[in-house]
Amino acid sequence: MTPATTSTTAPAITVSGLRKSFGDNVVLRGVDLTVQRGEIFALLGANGAGKTTTINVLSTLLRPDAGTATVAGHDVAADAPAVRRTISLTGQFAAVDEILTGRENLELVARLRRVPEPRRVATGLLERFGLTEAADRRSGTYSGGMKRRLDIAMSLVGAPSVVVLDEPTTGLDPQGRLEVWATIRDLADAGTTILLTTQYLDEAEALAHRIAILHGGTIIANGTLAELTALFPPTTVEYVEKKPTLEEIFLAITGSETRES
Ligand SMILES: Nc1ncnc2c1ncn2[C@@H]1O[C@H](COP(=O)(O)OP(=O)(O)O)[C@@H](O)[C@H]1O
Ligand SMILES: [Mg+2]
Repeated sequence: MTPATTSTTAPAITVSGLRKSFGDNVVLRGVDLTVQRGEIFALLGANGAGKTTTINVLSTLLRPDAGTATVAGHDVAADAPAVRRTISLTGQFAAVDEILTGRENLELVARLRRVPEPRRVATGLLERFGLTEAADRRSGTYSGGMKRRLDIAMSLVGAPSVVVLDEPTTGLDPQGRLEVWATIRDLADAGTTILLTTQYLDEAEALAHRIAILHGGTIIANGTLAELTALFPPTTVEYVEKKPTLEEIFLAITGSETRES
């Protein structure tokens, strides 16, 4: 099988037995997950659960203590350059330079990545992300949602097939959050595989085809929303009239106390 064939048939992402400690702090104790091509996959976990650590391994920014990971069939340890060509990471903290306009930010990234025709690429992305009118304004004047959209647009320069978004809506107001959700859905509709991390149960519920819950260093639940719903203890379901929310499922699985309503 040629490498090209491997790339088109392999899952977008595989993670197997991933372990990582920082000193005495054991963060990942054997994480396994598979992201299929074209899906939106949410890695859901509380603050400090190890979400960023996991995706930093996938983006070749961090070396695991044990375990393996692949992106489009390329091993992150053995073939880091191929992984970097395939994946784009939008970090928790925006890469947008607020002194530059939206267009300048995009052209800068295109030049750094040696993408042909940076201006044309920037124009296309500005249009796709609803930023054409604001293109020549300093991005420091943008709303939170616009800035995050620009940030995601910047990560798409060079047309990566796998996009990783680390907490894409953290810190946004409700309007900005909805704008970013729409952007993520559009990306997925265009065939891009998306792995996003979130601490928001409703975000995973609203966006993801499949959800993995990272808790205590491992994936404690993994599946579609329907599959996770089926994990909810049936004895409890008898007494609730509505379907359990993902939040209730999460609390039931992690054994956390239910918040007072
Ligand atoms: N470079 C690092 N050095 C030391 N500790 C780290 C480092 N990166 C993350 N950690 C620790 O690992 C744990 C998980 O962090 P992180 O992966 O950022 O969680 P999340 O993204 O789910 O909030 C936290 O306790 C954090 O303090
Ligand atoms: Mg994080």
